[in-house]
Amino acid sequence: MAEFLVTGGAGFIGSNLVDALLAAGHEVRVLDNLSMGKRSNLPLDNPRLRFIEGDVADAEVVMQAVAGCSAVAHLAAVASVQASVDDPVATHQSNFIGTLNLCEAMRRHGVRRVVYASSAAIYGNNGEGVAIDEATAKAPLTPYAADKLAGEHYLDFYRRQHALEPAVFRFFNIFGPRQDPSSPYSGVISIFTQRAQQGLPISVFGDGEQTRDFFYVGDLIELLMQGLLGEFVEQPVNVGWNQAVSLNQLLAEIGALCGGLPQVTHLPARAGDIRHSRADNARLQAHYRMPQQTPLREGLRQLLGV
Ligand code: NAD
Ligand code: UD1
Repeated sequence: MAEFLVTGGAGFIGSNLVDALLAAGHEVRVLDNLSMGKRSNLPLDNPRLRFIEGDVADAEVVMQAVAGCSAVAHLAAVASVQASVDDPVATHQSNFIGTLNLCEAMRRHGVRRVVYASSAAIYGNNGEGVAIDEATAKAPLTPYAADKLAGEHYLDFYRRQHALEPAVFRFFNIFGPRQDPSSPYSGVISIFTQRAQQGLPISVFGDGEQTRDFFYVGDLIELLMQGLLGEFVEQPVNVGWNQAVSLNQLLAEIGALCGGLPQVTHLPARAGDIRHSRADNARLQAHYRMPQQTPLREGLRQLLGV
């Protein structure tokens, strides 16, 4: 069995991946600074899991974490687009410098395969009204998107120059268990479902007609496992279902499952917020074994426990 490093492994997506790797019998190291992640997301009593509390912006820490591992899932980042708008300098350390440190450490230690958590945010508003394919012109509107795109370019340089194998996944909007609702920067489904359950008012930024292509975390993990263990796919792939759901539709679904909604207030749209985001996933389908889709309603049911 192999030993994998999962950066950001104490977070939402990372901890779900750690569970899958452990369940498949592998050894796992997690590198996470616990800025968003939690120890309680990890089965710390599992002898095949090693937790390293540290920052991907610290080159020395990353060098040590990479030594001797077979492949890396690089998920550590400040996941909030809005946080990057509010503090571009701090988020750049995690979201770009962390990736560069990882590239260097992998080169030095001869580790080749890395799964990279890129984002639909790199397309900006260029996919407005259509399904976005991977060739769509890139238009990073925020520091978050610029860092993710720069990370892709650096990984490609290390691929050409140093034989790294970066499996690049451009996630659309991922949701599911362990997405932390506690910050205003959290993912919209985690915030809306928690507030609906607690009867707390819900804020919608803008008119609520913006759309997202929501993808259940369990389905994503099946793809990331292939990215780590399967044949190398050189081209970046979108991860979405080619299904646009507006926030207003999302609220209606949540309301139906919860027997009503608390007060919904509309606030001004966020700066740099993307209007419509829907993935053309033909390339994903061509290169990866597709998971069976967990429909939005089923995923919401699981989150709401109804
Ligand atoms: P998350 O915040 O739950 O996970 C990120 C983890 O990285 C957290 O545990 C956090 O503590 C850790 N981290 C942050 N900065 C770090 C640093 N400097 N050093 C070490 N650890 C650090 O968010 P998530 O939704 O699980 O996101 C995982 C990855 O997927 C991120 O790279 C994010 O940008 C990317 N992504 C997420 C989505 C989504 O819809 N959730 C979509 C596209 C891309
Ligand atoms: C999300 C991810 C980002 C990823 C991108 C890819 C998070 C926190 N962000 O960004 O990592 O790269 O998808 O597509 O996981 N909204 C409200 N009210 C709220 C919260 C949000 O109206 O209380 C709105 C936002 O303004 C936005 C939409 O909901 O229009 C989605 O916001 P959010 O969940 O933060 O995700 P993205 O910005 O799409």
